[in-house]
Amino acid sequence: MNCAKNAPTTPQRLSKLSLESRNTFGLPAIAELAYEITDPNQLPSLMAGILKNDSPWRVLGGGSNVVLPNDLSGTTLLMNIAGREIIDRNDQFIKVAVGAGENWHDFVAWTLEKNLPGLENLALIPGTVGAAPIQNIGAYGSDVAEHLAFIEAFDSKEQAFVTLNKADCRFAYRDSHFKQSLGRYIVTKVVFNIAKVWVPRLTYADLAKEFSNNPSPAAKEIFTAVCRIRQSKLPDPKVIGNAGSFFQNPIVDSTFFSDLQLAHPNLVSYPDANGSRKLAAGWLIDQCGFKGYRFGPAGVYDKQALVLVNHGGADARDILSLADLIKQKVLERFGVELQIEPNIL
Ligand code: EPU
Repeated sequence: MNCAKNAPTTPQRLSKLSLESRNTFGLPAIAELAYEITDPNQLPSLMAGILKNDSPWRVLGGGSNVVLPNDLSGTTLLMNIAGREIIDRNDQFIKVAVGAGENWHDFVAWTLEKNLPGLENLALIPGTVGAAPIQNIGAYGSDVAEHLAFIEAFDSKEQAFVTLNKADCRFAYRDSHFKQSLGRYIVTKVVFNIAKVWVPRLTYADLAKEFSNNPSPAAKEIFTAVCRIRQSKLPDPKVIGNAGSFFQNPIVDSTFFSDLQLAHPNLVSYPDANGSRKLAAGWLIDQCGFKGYRFGPAGVYDKQALVLVNHGGADARDILSLADLIKQKVLERFGVELQIEPNIL
């Protein structure tokens, strides 16, 4: 595992780099200047130069939750810090430290090989470990925040390495302190608390159905089922460009929800904190007739209306014009304002 105390190394510098194969939407972005970051120690001097020139910069992990413009000016940091290791054990938890550039799904598979169950519901989510806490990735009744111990990051505001514990990260549904302060932190390492006592998490409808005859499955069986369910509903970015759910599931108060349900008895929703409800945005979009809709080279996936896709040749403008159309129709029909989930750069 790389450690912030080692001697700095010089990152590889790449100019006019095509990011087409480095974003899961397959958008045709060109980075003016890019650096392969393989060690946290590369960051202080590199960032000092960028900040001194007041030049734009951003971090790209797996490129699975971004909409990239055709030209990315300034500096793009390609996060490639590797490493996975068990760093501590106590009565309750096993602590696992992971470099921000590790692939998320490979890490989840590794935890199961090491007999460290707990992350199996989050299998097959595209992207890197460092990006996972930024939008607090979640699926099948679990999210990354639940399993987090602390995060190491380079804070560009203070120009120093910082350690943020779980409370500092202010996690919420698809949200965190990092997402609220985009352009401030560069996550370098994520440390997970893997609970020693493992309990299967089968509350999400798809999993409850899958295991209705097997209430005590092994973690690997859940991992396999989650992979299968995801593959049946979500497009493989290697085959068809996409960034997973393009909109968040909107959270509405109980009064608004009751009125909406009265008008639309089949409305799909889930209880949320403080009596509010989370609406299935996929259902709202589907009801507006968008499933499988084509908008030039962009489109709506035909098996999941929450996923926008690049049928080939789309750029950010195509994707965002389609998103605007969907937002407008959902607002007109249901009075609900959808929020875009990926980061628009
Ligand atoms: N639905 C439709 N039509 C559609 C899509 C969905 O009617 O085209 C209805 C169905 O009733 C379905 C319900 O909406 O049962 C919920 O759909 P699904 O189980 O596919 O989940 P989701 O709410 O659309 C969320 C996450 C996904 C995550 C799944 C499973 C968000 C924004 N999305 O999707 O996360 O994999 O739950 O837990 O919270 C992602 O963030 O990129 C992502 C894929």
